[in-house]
Amino acid sequence: MENKKGKVYIVGAGPGDPELISVKGLKALKKADCVLYDFLSSPALLKYVKTGAKKICVGKANGLHLKEQGDINELLYKYSQVYRYVVRLKGGDPFVFSRGFEEARYLAEKRVKCEVIPGITSAIAGPESFGIPLTIKNKIQSFAVLTGRKENPNAEIDAPDCRTLVYVMGVANIKNIVKALRKRGRPDKTPCAFIERATTRKARIVTATIKTIAREVVRQKVKPPAILIVGEVVKYAKK
Ligand SMILES: C[S@@+](CC[C@H](N)C(=O)[O-])C[C@H]1O[C@@H](n2cnc3c(N)ncnc32)[C@H](O)[C@@H]1O
Repeated sequence: MENKKGKVYIVGAGPGDPELISVKGLKALKKADCVLYDFLSSPALLKYVKTGAKKICVGKANGLHLKEQGDINELLYKYSQVYRYVVRLKGGDPFVFSRGFEEARYLAEKRVKCEVIPGITSAIAGPESFGIPLTIKNKIQSFAVLTGRKENPNAEIDAPDCRTLVYVMGVANIKNIVKALRKRGRPDKTPCAFIERATTRKARIVTATIKTIAREVVRQKVKPPAILIVGEVVKYAKK
C-alpha cells in the first residue's frame, strides 16, 4: 500500500538554460512545499518556487558533495513525511549519470509516492546548442553517452564502436579517454570538442582532434561542467 503522505517529484532541470525545463517539471516546481536542488540545476529556476517553501542545496558538482547520497535519500524521505509536495531538482535528466534512479528506488522501498519527470540531458542539448547533431540520416547511425570518470583507479574508460561518442565528466580524465580511444583504433585525426557550460551565457566550444585535445584542455583552461564529443559530427559545429 502506498504512503498517504507527501509525494516526491524527481525533476530534470535541463542542461542550464532555465527555459529548457519541461512544462510538467515547472508545474511541479511551482507547487512544491520543499525543493532539494544541486549545483547543476539552474539557480534561475528557484524563482518559481513559491514564497515560504523550503529550499535546500544538497550540492553535488565537480566532486564537491555538500551531502552524501545516503543523506539525500534520507532527507527526501524525511520531507515527504512533512510536506505534501517535495521536488528533487537535478541537472539535465535525472537518470543520466545522475542518482535519480537510486533516489526513486529508495523512496519506492519506503512506499513514498514518487514521480520522475524527465529533463533534457546536457549530453544531447550541449552538442545541439552548437549545431552538432549526434546522428545524421544514412550517415551517422549510432551514438553513445559515457562517463569519462573512472569509478576506481583500475577501471577502464569505455570507448565503444559507435560513430559518435559523448563523454560527461571527462575534463580531469582526458588523457585516459584519449588512451582508450586510441586503444580502440580511433584515428588521431578524429575531430572532437569540449563544450563548457552548454546552453548558458558562458557556453564555449573548444575544438581539436584526438591528437590535440588533451593539450587544448590545458592551453584553453577547459573547466567542468563540460562534455566531450568525439566523431565526424564535430565538423558541423558552429563557432
Ligand atoms: C553528474 S553528471 C550529470 C549529468 C546530467 N544528469 C545530464 O543529464 O546532463 C555532470 C556532468 O554533466 C555534464 N554537464 C552538465 N551540465 C552541463 C552543461 N551545461 N554543459 C556541459 N556539460 C554539462 C558535465 O560533463 C558534468 O560534469
